[in-house]
Amino acid sequence: MTKKINSKLTKLIKYYSLINYNLIYDSNAINRYKKDSFKLTGNKADQLQKLKNLLKNIKNCSLKKSATNLVFSDGNPSSKIMLIGEGPGANEDKEGLPFVGRAGQLLDKMLLSIKLDRKNVYITNVVNYRPPENRKPTDLEIARYLPFLTKHIDIINPKILVLLGSTALNTIIGNELVISKARGKWIKKKIGNCSTEVIASFHPAFLMRQPDQKKMSWIDLKMIRKKIKELKIKIDK
Ligand code: URA
Repeated sequence: MTKKINSKLTKLIKYYSLINYNLIYDSNAINRYKKDSFKLTGNKADQLQKLKNLLKNIKNCSLKKSATNLVFSDGNPSSKIMLIGEGPGANEDKEGLPFVGRAGQLLDKMLLSIKLDRKNVYITNVVNYRPPENRKPTDLEIARYLPFLTKHIDIINPKILVLLGSTALNTIIGNELVISKARGKWIKKKIGNCSTEVIASFHPAFLMRQPDQKKMSWIDLKMIRKKIKELKIKIDK
């Protein structure tokens, strides 16, 4: 009898680990209609810190096991412009910051071309630990990190959300879209409690491999610049 209960319990624990039990395990009754699977209280800074702690303490994640550092975000949390990449590479893993390697240097130049820099935007990734060998995160890994990403967007509450590359595009918009077709179009989207204008564009790492696509990327950057003006977003100098 005890053996049976123990085995049931082990299975339940395994299941909870698999589905991120730390997000849903709660002594309160479950409200199945609530959109928000996290209850992060406090001001923006508190909530970001709590989200970061949840990610630091994520259990049974092979990405975390093979990574050196959590790569949470960079930039200005008050910014109304949020950028989402795919996942950290070797440099990002070492420094614990997104887009600090070669792709990051190109991203800085892209931002500069529309008179922005890192202090004017907020940057994160679909997954917050480096996938080994710089491979793409798997669907399962993306699904595991999606509630964190959704909450991250919810907390930052951007007016403009820029999806860099197909992983960010398919994570946020879905439908197995092809980046070359889906880029350069504004989509209004509600993510958590945040209503935002979303645009996808090429990932800087892709642009390094396909520099002829930089002209398309420039079109997208100009669209972002225009939207900033339209929405009267203040850029801190
Ligand atoms: N590529 C990404 O998608 N994110 C990073 O942080 C670095 C490279």
